[in-house]
Amino acid sequence: MSPPLPSPLLCPVCSAPLVAAEKTYGCANGHPFNIAKEGYINLLLSHQRKSKNPGDDADMVMARRRFFDSGAFAPLSNLLCGLAIFNRPEALSVLDCGCGEGHLLGALSEAHDGFFLGADISKKAVQVASRRHKQATWIVANGMRELPIADASMDVVISILAPRNMAEFNRILKPDGTLLIGVPGPNHLAELRQQLQFSSGDFKEKADEAAAKCAPYFIETQREQLAYGTVLSREQIADLIQMTPIFWRSGPEAKAAVMQLDELAITISVTLLAMNRPG
Ligand SMILES: C[S@@+](CC[C@H](N)C(=O)[O-])C[C@H]1O[C@@H](n2cnc3c(N)ncnc32)[C@H](O)[C@@H]1O
Ligand SMILES: [Zn+2]
Repeated sequence: MSPPLPSPLLCPVCSAPLVAAEKTYGCANGHPFNIAKEGYINLLLSHQRKSKNPGDDADMVMARRRFFDSGAFAPLSNLLCGLAIFNRPEALSVLDCGCGEGHLLGALSEAHDGFFLGADISKKAVQVASRRHKQATWIVANGMRELPIADASMDVVISILAPRNMAEFNRILKPDGTLLIGVPGPNHLAELRQQLQFSSGDFKEKADEAAAKCAPYFIETQREQLAYGTVLSREQIADLIQMTPIFWRSGPEAKAAVMQLDELAITISVTLLAMNRPG
C-alpha cells in the first residue's frame, strides 16, 4: 500500500484547503461542511444550483444502480479498470466528475491503489455511491462551475456520459495528467431507439466531436471502442428507459409497447478517449 495522498478538497466558499475532522471538513476561515452519515460531503452551495435537487433524481439513480447491478455494463467497467493509465506502480489521484451512483469509480477504487474522488451534482447519486463504496471520497458539487478541488492535484479525471467542463478539468489535472472521456459509440442502444421511433443519429461522429471540443487544452492519445450485444429483460428495459432522459420524449404508445416486451436484444457501444496536454 502506498501512503495516503493529501486531500485536494477546497472550501467552496473561500477556496482554502479543507481539512477533515471527526464529523466535518473545515477550512482555516471557519467554514464547516458536515460529513453525512453515508460518508459523503455536500460542497454544493445554494447559489451553484438552479433547482433544489439538481442532476439525476432518485428514480433515475436507482434505475442506473439496478442496471449496473444486472451486469449489463460489466464490459465497460472491466475495460475501464484494465486501462494502462490505471495500471501504474504509484498511487494515483482520480476524479470521476458526474460519477452517478458510483459504480465505475467504485470498481476502480477496488481494483487499484490511490485516492478516488467522485463528484456529482445529484445528492441522491452521491448518497447511494457513498453508502456502497467506502474506499472512495464522494462530494456533491457542480462540475460545470468551479470545482472545490485544488489546482494540478489529479492524475486522472474521468467523465463518462456526463457533462464536461474543459477549463476546470484543465485546472485540476496535473501537467502530465490524463482526461478520460466516455461518449456513446456507433449504434449505442440503436434497437431501443428504433423501437421507440426515436431518431437521434447513430453517434458515429460523437467521439470525433468530443475530441475536437477538448482542444486547445488536450489532444487525443488513445481511443478504445467498446461494442457488444446483450439481451435485456423486461426489468432492464424499464430501467434503461428510466435512466436515459432522452427516451422520456418518445411517444407514449411506442414507450408502452416497448415496456410490454419480455426481452430485447440491444447494442451497447461506448467510446473511451484518453486525452493529454499537447507537447
Ligand atoms: C448519464 S449519468 C452518468 C453517470 C456515470 N458517469 C455513469 O456512467 O454511470 C450523468 C450524471 O451526470 C450528473 N450531472 C449532470 N449535471 C452535472 C453537473 N453540472 N455537475 C456534476 N454532475 C452532473 C447527473 O446527476 C448524472 O449522475
Ligand atoms: Zn472557507
